[in-house]
Amino acid sequence: MCGIVGYKGKRQAAAIIIDSLKRLEYRGYDSAGIAIFNGKAIEVHKEKGRIIDLEKVIPDISGTVGIGHTRWATHGRPNKINAHPHTSGDIAVVHNGIIENYQQLKERLSQSGYNFVSETDTEVLAHLINYYHKSDLIEAVLSALKEIKGSYAIAVLCGNELVAARKDSPLIIGLGEGENFVASDIPAILKYTRKVIFLNDLEVAYVDQDRVTFFDTEKREIEKKVNTIEWNLEAAEKSGYEHFMLKEIHEQPRALHDTFAGRIYELEGNIVFDGLKLTESRIKDISRISIIACGTSYNAGFLGKYLFEQLSGIHVDVEIASEFRYAHSSPGSLVIAISQSGETADTLAALREAKSSGCRTLAITNVTGSTITREVESVIYTRSGPEIGVAATKTFISQLAVLYLLALYFGKIRGKISQDRMKRMLVSLKHIPAQITRLLNDKEMIIKFASVFKSSNDFFFIGRTLNYPIALEGALKLKEISYIHAEGYAAGELKHGPLALITQNTPVVAIATKGLTYDKVVNNIKEVKAREAPVLAIADEKDSEIEKYVDSVIRVPTTEEIFSPVLSTVVVQLLSYYIAKARNCPIDQPRNLAKSVTVE
Ligand code: AGP
Repeated sequence: MCGIVGYKGKRQAAAIIIDSLKRLEYRGYDSAGIAIFNGKAIEVHKEKGRIIDLEKVIPDISGTVGIGHTRWATHGRPNKINAHPHTSGDIAVVHNGIIENYQQLKERLSQSGYNFVSETDTEVLAHLINYYHKSDLIEAVLSALKEIKGSYAIAVLCGNELVAARKDSPLIIGLGEGENFVASDIPAILKYTRKVIFLNDLEVAYVDQDRVTFFDTEKREIEKKVNTIEWNLEAAEKSGYEHFMLKEIHEQPRALHDTFAGRIYELEGNIVFDGLKLTESRIKDISRISIIACGTSYNAGFLGKYLFEQLSGIHVDVEIASEFRYAHSSPGSLVIAISQSGETADTLAALREAKSSGCRTLAITNVTGSTITREVESVIYTRSGPEIGVAATKTFISQLAVLYLLALYFGKIRGKISQDRMKRMLVSLKHIPAQITRLLNDKEMIIKFASVFKSSNDFFFIGRTLNYPIALEGALKLKEISYIHAEGYAAGELKHGPLALITQNTPVVAIATKGLTYDKVVNNIKEVKAREAPVLAIADEKDSEIEKYVDSVIRVPTTEEIFSPVLSTVVVQLLSYYIAKARNCPIDQPRNLAKSVTVE
């Protein structure tokens, strides 16, 4: 996720682009840059860090057309060279998205004499447009985009010409008086205009000072509807959602799509990782894996244990990072550190401890260039985009996605998964984003349950095997944002103690999707019902039996048992959110908590 801006009009472009980029920093902030046509040539200025750092290095540039970018790195470290815009001859490009076939294109363009200076996928696009550019910029952009696999929202500058296009990444056009705008999101331009056109996939806009013309992929002109935005700026930053957490929950299909991009080849039954530096023979030799993490990342790691054990036959220990170094446990031959921020002090300390024992190391993180990425051999990025809400949501879902892919990949190399099974599982996995979208479109029951039980003092989340980590995550989410005491329990463990706490005042959320332990979970539900606990079941949409035993049911789409925890996750996130909202809690900034915990 990055932020892009374009401007053509009567005012000085640099000041407007910088101002608009500041409103997009929630989309990325590891580096930034602008390109302005100064009447003779395109001037490019870039800097590592935030827009404020870029501002300090920009000289006075006179020019009324330009583009800008604030970056959240996916390919290549966050530094000045990798910052956008990327140029090729007289073409400058800013891009948000992931070009999946950039390696192939890079090889081809290099053979044609193009020189690559950055590690980004975007530079391919600048060269490709340059390659096709004879006299018509629109034609060059259309030809280049026909070769791109993946997602993009782009703004292209060539002399004083400005072109924008999108596929699977957001882009809007703002219409002003004698000036027009391009932006990733509405807040960027709300100060200048409320008239907005939403670009659809595979549409291209030619942005002039007094007119914007829209084309399809065959360069046929198309008509677009102009919308008037009624939101204020604060609402616009959250895309109209009341909280960042809700917005980020809704971004999960998109986040998963990006996590999968360029990594899943379901027709061939292949998985490809860019940052994995483990050879097949090393993967075959792994005797044991240790996963170290904190909080929500620990819960992701806990599900990872089941995945690696079931799919690749490797024993896994999951360790709370702050305990690991004092437990004197000997780490496995591969240590996987999971951290959204890549800066959590406990996880870093545990990782260093494990490294000193000579094991191989791998990090799963969302932040390119974060400390953790500099201390491990291999890094796999979750590519969720920046997460603002303190409660981790979309980054958790993306961590799970990476763990599924890794476990499947290891399983195939170790001969535990046949090619056919791999293909089937990858097809099911690729359906998950659309299934989450379905869940997000039907929240009525969750909201109702939240309003009935908002005043409870204690909650239990129960599940078995793959659903147990999600029960832990549900309880953590609820505690963190609603301040209600909640316990996540392995359902079979209730009778060994906590059943004593169950009364009509302790609502129980039972994750009861179909699978190996379904009947056992139903028995555990009967145990708590016998103590008069109100029970909400998270169950399969085809399960017609479960309502006999519980008070309410939230249905999740049918998928393979192993993937169902991803769908149940969305339910527990929403449930926590709506309970916290009903209690008027400050959801995005819960008391006593910080987004990144950099002290041990
Ligand atoms: C989750 O909602 C919390 N914000 C917290 O538990 C978090 O997951 C934990 O602090 C670990 O952070 P990390 O993933 O950045 O390492």
